[in-house]
Amino acid sequence: MHIQVAIIGAGPAGLLLARVLELAGIETAVLERRTPDYLRQRIRAGLLEQGTVDFLSEVGVAARLKRERLIHQGVKLAFGGKRVRIDLEGLAGRAVSIYGQAEIQKDLMDAHAGAGTTIIYEAQDVSLHGLTDSTPRVRYRQNGLTHEMACDFIAGCDGFHGVSRQAIPQEVISTYERVYPFAWLGLLSDTRPVNDELIYVNHERGFALCTMRSRTRSRYYLQVSAHEDIEDWSDDRFWTELKRRLPRDAARGLETGPSIEKSIAPLRSFVAEPLRYGRLFLAGDAAHIVPPTGAKGLNLAVADVRYLSRALIAYYRSGRTDLTDAYSETCLARVWKAQRFSWWMTNLTHRFPEASPFERRAQAAELAYLEGSRAAQTVLAENYVGLPLSE
Ligand code: FAD
Ligand code: DHB
Repeated sequence: MHIQVAIIGAGPAGLLLARVLELAGIETAVLERRTPDYLRQRIRAGLLEQGTVDFLSEVGVAARLKRERLIHQGVKLAFGGKRVRIDLEGLAGRAVSIYGQAEIQKDLMDAHAGAGTTIIYEAQDVSLHGLTDSTPRVRYRQNGLTHEMACDFIAGCDGFHGVSRQAIPQEVISTYERVYPFAWLGLLSDTRPVNDELIYVNHERGFALCTMRSRTRSRYYLQVSAHEDIEDWSDDRFWTELKRRLPRDAARGLETGPSIEKSIAPLRSFVAEPLRYGRLFLAGDAAHIVPPTGAKGLNLAVADVRYLSRALIAYYRSGRTDLTDAYSETCLARVWKAQRFSWWMTNLTHRFPEASPFERRAQAAELAYLEGSRAAQTVLAENYVGLPLSE
């Protein structure tokens, strides 16, 4: 079997890349180790940049998104008894959209089911071979049988724990990493969101985030220690802790209810360079991870796919290799800006257990500066709504 582009991973990056390439007449096959049901239920991101929405729209998978999303023109920061609203629309000229990643996943899966894309679910022991040959190969096992697929290119869209990045020899890849001394405990519930916009809270007990999926479904996050056990967090304990961290009026108005989902995610900044090795291209979480504070992970994955699909289409349409050659550098320039922003937002809003009194004062001063400076708010807004893609 020979296909043009083999895609490892059917998360948002893999499925979106398959969608764009298939629309351009490029034959793809996607290999995914999980079941479709598992993917449909995976709760993760919720905030989309306008550039992400526009791209999903261009490739015909945004009809439901546009009907059901909530558009937010501002975002709030709460600290030291104060609340500052960042006017995203007024300062950066753009709003953001709230629409769950699980919904994007379903929309992409439905579009592929309709188009007959080859998606091989429950592919086990996926391995990559001959990456510097003209015809690389992907091997996998399914139902006890080993299969091999030859292709022109491989797109590694298999997330942080995938096999694609691992297939690159250590001596040609550099990694840059920061692991944070805390995690996020997330809770999803069918309750009315506490505010009509997101609230990022810096509280002495730790960071909290109030976000949502719809007008009747809330998503809350709490900063917890990196070693926290989810079993120790009953719904009651979560709501009690959240109330302690929220501004008083928000705590009073908080509607609580049973959780639909609860999970703990560690926080990490990570970049692997370069994003290309021979005929393998990395995209999305396979190449980089951001701490979730700036809501950049999914948006970055989509931006990578925009660059990669453009490069592969130019190759197949006119034999151009300049864009595939430039893929890594072009992507990384934007990735690093999003890394910087996510790291900065994390530093601004979280309580670091090891912070010295000096560092705590400096953090408080930065929040106070943000409160009083339109320039500082503009910097936040411009990054939060998403930086433009280079041409
Ligand atoms: P993934 O979604 O990880 O998909 C990779 C796929 O590859 C998976 O389906 C996996 O099963 C498959 N796979 C892995 N290994 C193999 C293998 N060996 N063989 C075959 N298949 C394999 N981002 C935002 O932009 N906004 C937010 O608001 C936001 N909030 C977040 C909140 C939390 C709590 C978390 C954890 C993340 C958040 N993110 C957010 C990040 C976002 O969810 C990720 O960046 C996004 O899922 C990346 O997509 P991806 O397709 O690159 O990787
Ligand atoms: C969501 C997650 C984030 O990390 C963020 O910064 C904003 C929103 C969310 O899950 O909705």
